[in-house]
Amino acid sequence: MEFVHSFGFFTLLSLISPIDASDSWSYSGNTGPSYWVNSYATCGGSSQTPINLEGGEYDPNLGNITFTGYSAADSGTTYILENNGHTAKVGFQSSTSMSISDGGLSGTYKVLQFHAHWGRNGSGEGSEHYKDGKPYPAEIHIVHYRNSYADSTAAVDQPEGLAVLGIFLEQGSVENTKYSPFINALSNIPDSGQNFTMSGFALGDLLPSDTSKYFRYSGGLTTPPCYESIVWTVFNEPVSLSMTQMDALRTLNYEDGSTMQDNTRPLQNLNGRDITASWDGAHHVAVSFALILLVFVFHLF
Ligand SMILES: *[C@@H]1O[C@H](CO)[C@@H](O)[C@H](O)[C@H]1NC(C)=O
Ligand SMILES: *[C@@H]1O[C@H](CO)[C@@H](O)[C@H](O)[C@H]1NC(C)=O
Ligand SMILES: *[C@@H]1O[C@H](CO)[C@@H](O)[C@H](O)[C@H]1NC(C)=O
Ligand SMILES: [Zn+2]
Repeated sequence: MEFVHSFGFFTLLSLISPIDASDSWSYSGNTGPSYWVNSYATCGGSSQTPINLEGGEYDPNLGNITFTGYSAADSGTTYILENNGHTAKVGFQSSTSMSISDGGLSGTYKVLQFHAHWGRNGSGEGSEHYKDGKPYPAEIHIVHYRNSYADSTAAVDQPEGLAVLGIFLEQGSVENTKYSPFINALSNIPDSGQNFTMSGFALGDLLPSDTSKYFRYSGGLTTPPCYESIVWTVFNEPVSLSMTQMDALRTLNYEDGSTMQDNTRPLQNLNGRDITASWDGAHHVAVSFALILLVFVFHLF
């Protein structure tokens, strides 16, 4: 998850450092993920993201998430698409009426932005979370902040201040027209720092058809400053995009002009955190897999 640097934070960094805040970290080399902790201590914390989602324990109290304002374009905000040097992000204003609640969330969370993480092709790695030990080629994050805070800046470092929805993307053979407004607009922002005002579209179009099955755990931002402030929801069902649509993500460039790809943080340790699931089945799959493995091992020896 990529959080827009708050204005205050950005200004502070520009005062104390000649380096632009957006330049101080990257996904490779000596500003890559293993170095983030040197400048952002929280990146070395014990509740970091992403993680491998496996064996989620069924929690009947989770229930369905309620999506408000997700089913049609929101006329109360502009949809600003931006290449911020790390990802393609669509940001919304606080006047938006789009929010989520229920689903085990302890309040209402207002939509702030969504963005993507992706790899080098449509069949390899590229998602931040893994499921049952395997990555997907890309992942969408829809970022929300708790509406009990004055704004997103106040919420960003608070426990459960943010709620992020993770959506796995896989590559299929047909165009997903629900994703076309986002994907087609990417051609307007090839270079870092560019932005483009999109036409509105229904945010619900980004969701998988079954939103009742999801994983839940406590984690943080997958980019500096890695605040451990996020109630994470990752849907079990992936969304399928065509190869052309997947490839459109890789038409963007990083600040140095190289192809934007592999903008993913490596897996972090679970450190004893609970992973729960909204449905009865996530755990059983893992258990039966372990049983099959056990039987297999017994056959070998
Ligand atoms: C896709 O990318 C993965 C790395 O994520 C690589 O191992 C694999 O060879 C690539 N496949 C193709 C067809 O290029
Ligand atoms: C969009 O880009 C223009 C031109 O570079 C810039 O002046 C403006 O502040 C940007 N807007 C946003 C919302 O980032
Ligand atoms: C939750 O959503 C699923 C799928 O949309 C639906 O089948 C189920 O009835 C819903 N559960 C409740 C309690 O509303
Ligand atoms: Zn993200």
